[in-house]
Formats: sequence, structure tokens, C-alpha cells
Amino acid sequence: MFKKRHVLSMREFSREEIDSVLDMAQTLEPYARGKRSDMLAGKILALLFFEPSTRTRMSFETAMKRLGGGVINLGPAEGSSISKGESLADTVRVIGGYADALVIRHPKEGSARLASEFSPVPVLNAGDGAGHHPTQTLLDLYTIKKEQGRIDDLEIALVGDLKYGRTVHSLAYALSLYGADVTLVSPPTLRMPESIRTDLSGKGTRVREVCDLGKVVNNVDVLYMTRIQRERFPDPQEYNKVARSYRLTPQFLAGARKNLIIMHPLPRVDEISPDVDGTPHARYFQQSFYGVTVRMALLKMLIGGGA
Ligand code: NCD
Repeated sequence: MFKKRHVLSMREFSREEIDSVLDMAQTLEPYARGKRSDMLAGKILALLFFEPSTRTRMSFETAMKRLGGGVINLGPAEGSSISKGESLADTVRVIGGYADALVIRHPKEGSARLASEFSPVPVLNAGDGAGHHPTQTLLDLYTIKKEQGRIDDLEIALVGDLKYGRTVHSLAYALSLYGADVTLVSPPTLRMPESIRTDLSGKGTRVREVCDLGKVVNNVDVLYMTRIQRERFPDPQEYNKVARSYRLTPQFLAGARKNLIIMHPLPRVDEISPDVDGTPHARYFQQSFYGVTVRMALLKMLIGGGA
């Protein structure tokens, strides 16, 4: 079901397929913690990052290496033939001949899909502009499942830049497959795009939109914070108007549910105060660790040996 397919957006995943990735991740977690394996020996993963990345790039690399595979890296675009004017299509055709799968992050929406049209091997979208970030969503779902014991029927707030944030675009869609009750918390100018809101209500998801974070914290099981995506604003003044819209501090959490978990794809800027890190609700560093586990599962399912 997974062999050699592209991973471009969550829309292409059924709930059963997502569950099979999460189950595989559970099986592979000991390897993320250091158990030795050569499951992907002889396989090569190519990393093509045209935008900054710490966790996504390094967790893919870690996942591959811990399973015995190798990694090749395009490096900064200025150091590659892109700077001589080579097209993405040609780059992908060539590197697809070297590697067993490609991971691509690019500032333009739709770029991973374009790459998939030219690549002879699976393409994994690691973020296309303000579009999608499906592998992040899979690790987010894994985190929720591990830390809450289930994904179904939870009350979840997505907070921050819902307009430009690709992680929340992918996550909102996936949550609609699990009967979640979703509260969208953003400044009025950074609302979730209408197409995604329509998708959610079309799937019967209960959705409400609010601006005030304080009103939401006590009534949810998961608080998913995000960074205001400064680099996507056409006008820096518009960014400055919303830059410090939310800042979660321990004071907000006084009346929170006991089981509340706070997540964040990271990097954070100032939307979660560092003194929240020591509260029993913080899970964002655990979440970034699960990135290795879940990416191991995806790689094994896409390019691993066997049936
Ligand atoms: C996110 C991204 O790149 O979209 N980071 C990540 O992959 N963990 C979130 C962000 O940059 O704000």
C-alpha cells in the first residue's frame, strides 16, 4: 500500500493508512532510541532543502542513519547548480537517479507536487511554502496518540498563524478523520484558509473560531501552538501588527485540564514562555523526538525491503 508512493499532502491518506504508519512507528521506536538496525542498508535518501530547517532535515537524516541507510544532501542552493539556473525539474530528475527517495522543502506552494512529476523515486514533502507539511502531521498525530492514549474525539485548539502555517493546514485536515472537535485561535487577519475550513465542516468536524486564547485553554485536551510565519508576510508592517499576538505563560494554565498537552512544531519565537517548559503539560520536545520515529516508519514503508 505504501511502496514507492509520494507523500505530498494529508489529503492522500485514509485514516487506515495513517494508523498503519503510527503502528509501524510504535514498532520502530526502540531504534529511534538507539537499538541497532540495518533495515535500510544500501538505501540512500536525498535531502533537498531550499528553506531553513533544523528538526525536519536532521530527523530524516537520523532516521535514515539509525536504520542503516545513507543520506546525500544538496546543501545550500547557492552551492549547487540551482545557482547556475538549473530548474527544479532537472535537479529532481538527476538526484532521483542517485537516491531511493527525495525529501524536499521549498518556499513555493506546489513545489513538492511538481517534483513528484519528474522524480523516478518517492518524493516526501517537507513543507511547500504555506501549503502542506504531511510528515509533521504524522508525527503530531503520533504524539497525540502516545500522550493522550487516543486521537479520536479529542478537543484540540490550533493557535497562532493559521493562514500561513503549513503544519496546521495539514493537521486540521487529518484531525477531521478522527472526529476531533477543533477550535481555531488566531488574529482575524491570520484565519485558517476558507478551503480548509470548508473541508473540515464537510467532514462533520465541529469547528469554532476565536481570537482570545484565554477563553480556550481550560476547555481542550491539546493546545497546538504555532509561530507567526514572518517570512511569508508580503509586508513587514503587517507582520509587526500581529507578531506578539499570543504568549502562553504558566498563568494561563491554572485552570487547565489535567490531561492537557501543549504541542508546537518548533521553532518557537515567543509564543510559549520558557517557564511553561517545566509544567506537566509541555510536550513539544518529546514531539520533536517522535519526528525520528515517525520518519523511520515512513521510510521503511516507502523504500524498505520486503513486500
Ligand atoms: C515548521 C515548518 O517548517 O513549517 N517547522 C517544522 O518543520 N518543525 C513550523 C515553523 O517553521 O513554524
